[in-house]
Amino acid sequence: MLPLRRYITMEEVQKKRILSGIQPSGDLTLGSYLGAIKNWAALAEEYDCYYMLADMHTITVRQTPADLRRRTLTQLAAYIACGLDPEKNVLFIQSHVPAHAQLGWVLDCYTMFGELSRMTQFKDKSAKNADNINAGLFTYPALMAADILLYQVDLVPVGGDQKQHVEICRDIATRFNGIYGDVFKLPKPYIPKVGARVMSLTSPENKMSKSDKDQNGCVYMLERPEDILRKFKKAVTDSEACVRFDPAQKPGVSNLMQIYSVCTGKTFDAIETEFEGRGYGDFKSAVGEAVVETLRPIREETEHILADKAYLEGIYRTGAERAAYVAGKTLRKVYKKVGFVER
Ligand code: TRP
Repeated sequence: MLPLRRYITMEEVQKKRILSGIQPSGDLTLGSYLGAIKNWAALAEEYDCYYMLADMHTITVRQTPADLRRRTLTQLAAYIACGLDPEKNVLFIQSHVPAHAQLGWVLDCYTMFGELSRMTQFKDKSAKNADNINAGLFTYPALMAADILLYQVDLVPVGGDQKQHVEICRDIATRFNGIYGDVFKLPKPYIPKVGARVMSLTSPENKMSKSDKDQNGCVYMLERPEDILRKFKKAVTDSEACVRFDPAQKPGVSNLMQIYSVCTGKTFDAIETEFEGRGYGDFKSAVGEAVVETLRPIREETEHILADKAYLEGIYRTGAERAAYVAGKTLRKVYKKVGFVER
């Protein structure tokens, strides 16, 4: 006879774990919100979530120290204002958890020069910062692999541009596990279906980026309403004067539709009907208004949180402790495996 009961496996008891991070290398954009953080907030019930401020990655490009500090704290406040509940999510600053640097070094020794040379982001960034092609910029993927592998995560929510980094992380983990046994869990990239890629308002072929030189292409999460409206009024469209979703032929209009749809919950069909026979002027103003209303409560809440230094300090201290506990376990295992003497 078959046994009536079977044991529940650990996987069924434990929630799947997620980790992601954003570099505080510039002010957060509408794209960071709609494309990433907004989705993160919805994952807390189903997953065990870790969200990091990747300040160590940020110094691969030269920074003004006071700006980096300010942006890191603002970004943390914005995470919370966007709905990442610090009780339900572990929110922490990368440099506060030394295990990242420690595992990063070990993984440097299991990452090949050739693999790093092929990374698209390295090639792009060295072209953009030709006067500062430092070793950190080159080994950036090994540190990112450490970020992920320390937490034994299942999924890494990232934009398409970061997929290659999750792939190299899997390669590094596979190589390490091949030598020492199953030390690291192999993570998968998790590219959310909704939320979309928000493109630049002035060059809609490119992703809206916080490092964009063209200030009019990018809307910041904490920007003043009048500036947001002005940028949307100037957004690039086309000469057809018809609101229709067609990313290949009409990248500007399609990007605006996408933004409008995420901010209002309206479908593309409904949006096409709403603006039938009306000019782009009306449409662009409507999108601008919708974005202003979406961002208003976030901006107000971010300012509110930032004003309470003690609260914010409590959040990042607790976050670092919770993160360090999990990360420490993996690091100790790794140190033992590679043959370091236990202290
Ligand atoms: N490289 C990521 C970016 O620039 C930021 C990042 C650093 C990250 N460490 C990470 C993202 C770990 C996901 C997981 O967007």
